[in-house]
Amino acid sequence: MEEQKVLVTGGAGFIGYHLCKKLSTITSNLTIYDDLSSGKIENVTDVPLATFVQGNILDLKTLCGLPKQDLIYHLAAQVVVPYSMENPLIDFETNAKGTVCVLEKARQDDAKVVFASSAAVYGNPSVFPTPESYGFHPFSCYGLSKIVGEQYCQMYREQYGLDIVITRFANVYGLRCHGVIHDFLDKLAKNPDKLEIIGTGQQSRDFVHVSDLVEALITVGASDRFNGETFNLGIGKTTSILELADLILSILELKDRTVITTTNQSWQGDVTKIWFDIGKAKQELNWIPKVTLEDSIREVIADRKISL
Ligand SMILES: NC(=O)c1ccc[n+]([C@@H]2O[C@H](COP(=O)([O-])OP(=O)(O)OC[C@H]3O[C@@H](n4cnc5c(N)ncnc54)[C@H](O)[C@@H]3O)[C@@H](O)[C@H]2O)c1
Repeated sequence: MEEQKVLVTGGAGFIGYHLCKKLSTITSNLTIYDDLSSGKIENVTDVPLATFVQGNILDLKTLCGLPKQDLIYHLAAQVVVPYSMENPLIDFETNAKGTVCVLEKARQDDAKVVFASSAAVYGNPSVFPTPESYGFHPFSCYGLSKIVGEQYCQMYREQYGLDIVITRFANVYGLRCHGVIHDFLDKLAKNPDKLEIIGTGQQSRDFVHVSDLVEALITVGASDRFNGETFNLGIGKTTSILELADLILSILELKDRTVITTTNQSWQGDVTKIWFDIGKAKQELNWIPKVTLEDSIREVIADRKISL
């Protein structure tokens, strides 16, 4: 990969930042392409060796006007499930049409593509842990738009001969993350006496640390052995949101103080359980996720300098 020109769409986002930080130690030809719609400029300035182009993936002229690339990590997306239910068209535009635009850039350059897909393609599966072969059962417009993206990737591989790898992420967390851990810490920073969980708290997730995820992404990007393959990237365990809340409260030594409440009503498109079978990634990528949820929550808390 050292000699390769690498493009990361969505490189100013949470995962994109961590991926680019690592990639910038491997290649000196790294370009971040992001419209900063949810990404942050500090995620770009903190990767000083990369070239940053502010642009929308739907802007084919700008995207295709970039220098020829060898490898494209396509992470840019609308990532919020409830937003996708309220705005299916915008979600479709960004995630489905946007992916076709990125594939057009890849076709022009004959570049390899690593596509960031999601657990949302499985919806509410009936098989746990869920293997890659389970099939598509979307429960949200976001999940459906990721399926469309995956299918276009496979079409470009079959019909145009592109080298494509699909990576399905579980719940990714770590420094600079958004999502449930971040939400809980925000709520507790405002009011340590009460923690409201949206939903029943029984919903559960497979939490994978971003550094482990990045390691797998580098492996699939660097090798030509995985063309056409799909990999679940999680840790192969599931943790309920109540268990997560409990863990955060015990780390913050708030268990005797904070009252947990639940709204019992979740948002549209929310799934009950994510629990990946990661046997394929372990075996074929020789990948073992290492970071524990507890260690990482301590790291996030220390980084946010939370003391209650
Ligand atoms: N974070 C997770 O737990 C998780 C789980 C499953 C899948 N994923 C996938 O991983 C990828 C990265 O997610 P993230 O958590 O870092 O989200 P993020 O919102 O932090 O990053 C997405 C980035 O894409 C950029 N972007 C959005 N629309 C764009 C457009 N039209 N043109 C150019 N840039 C655009 C945003 O500005 C942002 O920087 C996404 O594809 C997401 O669907 C994330």
